Amino acid sequence: MASDTSRPPRIPLVDLKAQYRAIKGEIDEAVRSVIENAAFIMGRHVTGLEESFAALCGAGYGIGVSSATTGLHLVLHAMGIGPGDEVILPSLTFIATAEAVCHAGAAPVFADVDPAALTMDPDSVRRSITDRTRAIIPVHLYGRCANMDHLVPMARGHGLRIVEDAAQAHGAFCSAGRAGSLGDAAVFSFYPGKNLGAFGDGGMITTSDCDLYQRMHMLANHGRTDKYVHEMIGYNYRLDALQAAVVAVKLKHLTRWNGRRLELARRYNAHFGSLRCIAPEAPDGHVFHLYILQVAERDRLIEALHERSIDSGIHYPVPCHRQPCFRGRRTGPLPVTESVVPRLISLPLYPEMTGSDQDRVIDVVDTHCRRYPLEL
Ligand SMILES: Cc1ncc(COP(=O)(O)O)c(C=O)c1O
Repeated sequence: MASDTSRPPRIPLVDLKAQYRAIKGEIDEAVRSVIENAAFIMGRHVTGLEESFAALCGAGYGIGVSSATTGLHLVLHAMGIGPGDEVILPSLTFIATAEAVCHAGAAPVFADVDPAALTMDPDSVRRSITDRTRAIIPVHLYGRCANMDHLVPMARGHGLRIVEDAAQAHGAFCSAGRAGSLGDAAVFSFYPGKNLGAFGDGGMITTSDCDLYQRMHMLANHGRTDKYVHEMIGYNYRLDALQAAVVAVKLKHLTRWNGRRLELARRYNAHFGSLRCIAPEAPDGHVFHLYILQVAERDRLIEALHERSIDSGIHYPVPCHRQPCFRGRRTGPLPVTESVVPRLISLPLYPEMTGSDQDRVIDVVDTHCRRYPLEL
């Protein structure tokens, strides 16, 4: 069949094939080593990654887990959070943050986001605290740390546990410190498209609380203290060695990749700053898992990009409090979440992206925003 030569090459939202090509030798070697040693469960690849990842975060301990979803559940369960308890989280997040609260048996309470940062708004959290509140889950959304300078003292003042959802924030930092060391525990995702992704599902919990670490470590591995001695009813939430080996290779490149992401984000911002749209703030420490622009007539922009073979995304088209699974649940007003969601569009951004590919995206956005300026 003849190929369509009239269409320019596709620009994906994230290019995992290009990433693999760049580090193929290292990855293949690491995978081969796991297979040749037939050490698929636990073992040195997992413990090695746990140590190096915890070190990156400035945390005392790391626990490899099967995903961030299971990791969040594990943390809440190990903290003794369950039926009758409430946990505050932003509505603007991936559903997994809320699912984990429900899996623990607690009730998710949805807070609004700050209009500039799009992370959990401390004032909205304060208004949501009740006698039943046990924890807050700040989400470092899109790779930017939540406002921990305000959230941490507020949570401590109310005796609440703090669980960072750092699924999108590997290597991120802010004035309060490094993601993964800002609360009682943090959870990262190694879903393939993340800044640090496996070749399947995986995740990592970090904490500096020794008791909590020991409980979580045991619970993640069938609650065992010895091969066939089970102190608690646990789970099989382990990270497997093949995924750990892949992630350990990629971890060596993370800082460079994150640097390139920030550079590309600032380059987008330099062009979009003069247009009638809202570009994201790009402070140091933001690792730009996703580059989110706010525009008018978002669906027309998606279509215009698509016509030029450029992929885009929406993170997230339906906030948690509007999901069918949470229908009927009482929630306070979330005016910022409601107003930003219809404007959000995720543009391609990945370390291997070239300047000329980025220029193609910029051209389409430029034309769109001049034609459909965002009225505020
Ligand atoms: C903010 C957030 N929390 C949790 C998760 C769940 O991660 P996982 O797919 O590893 O379970 C994701 C994944 O996309 C996420 O973006």
